[in-house]
Amino acid sequence: MTGKADGDRMNAVEITGKTKVAGVFGDPVEHSLSPAMHNAAFRRLGMDWVYVPFHVKPEQLGEAVRAVRALGLAGVNVTVPHKVAVMEHLDAVDEEARLIGAVNTVVHRDGRLVGYNTDGRGFLRSLAREAQVDPKGARVLILGAGGAAQAIACSLALHGAGAITIANRTVSKAEALAARVRERAPARAVPLAPGDPRFEEALAGAEIVVHTTTVGMYPRHQEEPLIPVERLRDGALVCDIVYRPRETALLRAAKARGLRVLTGEGMLAYQGAIAFELFTGRAAPEELMLAVLRERLAAGG
Ligand code: ATR
Repeated sequence: MTGKADGDRMNAVEITGKTKVAGVFGDPVEHSLSPAMHNAAFRRLGMDWVYVPFHVKPEQLGEAVRAVRALGLAGVNVTVPHKVAVMEHLDAVDEEARLIGAVNTVVHRDGRLVGYNTDGRGFLRSLAREAQVDPKGARVLILGAGGAAQAIACSLALHGAGAITIANRTVSKAEALAARVRERAPARAVPLAPGDPRFEEALAGAEIVVHTTTVGMYPRHQEEPLIPVERLRDGALVCDIVYRPRETALLRAAKARGLRVLTGEGMLAYQGAIAFELFTGRAAPEELMLAVLRERLAAGG
């Protein structure tokens, strides 16, 4: 099924001797929406580039990374389960990715492979573009402490968030993430277990709430929100990084309570846009990338 934005994908792709190749490494990889976003962007800008999915098994990750150099790929995105393991195969890792402890973008530049993490910055760009929110000085409550929470917490801290509370069912993971943030970034980071009496305070005080757990994600979309939205402050912004379904039970409840909400597909589109900029050195057609992503998600892609 082809929509309007996705029409860019339909322009014939002519592979030439000069075509530059980028791609994504994952296991599995066939559900990745990155090829559709990046190829639409290349077509829109008339660039002689293609973006290809590569199914890479964990035991072959090292060989696959060496192939980026051997085959002269321009760069690759790296997704589950390779984001941490890939780091040991690179020549350098940028500071934000090092703090996050994971890489989702590898750029091949002058024979060197440099790792970046665009997930957290993708979230920040989504905040800025779609909610017109600057997190500088803000009190943020993050629900969850997995890979996505790590990227978001570290990027928020590096970009000046005031106080970051991390609440997670397994409190040891919240503690580890808070320690990582405090060690390298000035933001105050507090770990909490959901039952902690200070959790109520964190709910009432948060200006930005970011839900990063798998609760409410398809096929668990019938699940109740993790937090009672009625206890959030008026004017709070509630973000859910889950993008299947587009509107989670948490966002529905937040809207009904009169709060502003931010859906999850923006983070996915903007992490791609920032990766595109790293690969190509050109500004990404980010509205197109977001539109392609929305069409694919709406079509069940
Ligand atoms: P991702 O990399 O996408 O962030 P992840 O690393 O698997 O995914 O992390 C999943 C997050 O969802 C974790 O914070 C997890 O909590 P635990 O650390 O306690 O496992 C959280 N999570 C998953 N199911 C949950 C549930 N039913 N209630 C609360 N938190 C849940």
